[in-house]
Amino acid sequence: MNGVHDVLSPAGPQAATLYQLWNVMLVACTVVFVVTIVALAIAVWRAPRATERAKPDLDPHPRKVATLRRSVVWGIAGSSVLLLVLLLASFVADRALSALPLANAVRIDLVGHQFWWEARYESHSPELTFSTANELHVPVGRPVLVRLRADDVIHSFWVPSLSGKKDLIPGRESTIALRADRAGTYRGQCAEFCGYQHAQMALVVVADPPADYERWQALQREPARAPETAQERRGLELVEQTSCAMCHAIHGTRARARRAPDLTHVASRGWLGAGAVENTPALRAEWIANAQKFKPGINMPPLDAAPDDLAAMSAYLGSLR
Ligand code: CUA
Repeated sequence: MNGVHDVLSPAGPQAATLYQLWNVMLVACTVVFVVTIVALAIAVWRAPRATERAKPDLDPHPRKVATLRRSVVWGIAGSSVLLLVLLLASFVADRALSALPLANAVRIDLVGHQFWWEARYESHSPELTFSTANELHVPVGRPVLVRLRADDVIHSFWVPSLSGKKDLIPGRESTIALRADRAGTYRGQCAEFCGYQHAQMALVVVADPPADYERWQALQREPARAPETAQERRGLELVEQTSCAMCHAIHGTRARARRAPDLTHVASRGWLGAGAVENTPALRAEWIANAQKFKPGINMPPLDAAPDDLAAMSAYLGSLR
């Protein structure tokens, strides 16, 4: 799945704060490593030779004892100061993370499922709310408050270029705030082992300039586009009559189930199965026929259909912009 997936290239204030903390820790750890290795090298260099080791030094010279004592004291003092500095740095970072202003925030309700992400964009009026899956769009420069829940087991939200990690825990609700200051596509990944297909539980956050975001949002609120060609009409008929409609919803059609990703605008997404396969006509048909081939162990069952029918379903879904 495309998109930036990089802790070291922050695209918003939350990720930038974590990046600064990371830099502080990198410098501190490098200094500790170098000092430790140098001290070890000196100790090895100065160690008594094998011939001298035969006679134990039971009564060391007072100067030797004093040196030893001094190094222990300095070692303890140095480690304490360093730990305090790291504690302070993490405290400051924590304060900065929770200081993101949330006025005018876009609110997204994100539910983790084995093995995909269900997203609902909330609004005060119910007709303005809409659902999508695995690919979020956010406006550049505006805060986003993501409400996290889990449907089955623990998952973890992680889009490294935009924010830190936050767990999605069944029966509990948590939130994470973020803001993208640079337009782009940022890849995220479920960061808590949640089962067989944990590795294929990717998420994409597309940060759009505000006008593009408004256009995207307006499109997502629309019901599904009506089929135009004979093939697309046949595709819709099959989607409504086969097992598709038992799990998926396509607004404006008879498919109204909510167990699997909402397909109302599936063609506006670049990938299927949370980053498992690219959303192209041929791969879409293969995915409908047997998603298990790409992502074994998921809930989507194989569909025994003729190649023409699969192509019709793929064409219909491909028209759902
Ligand atoms: Cu969901 Cu790992």
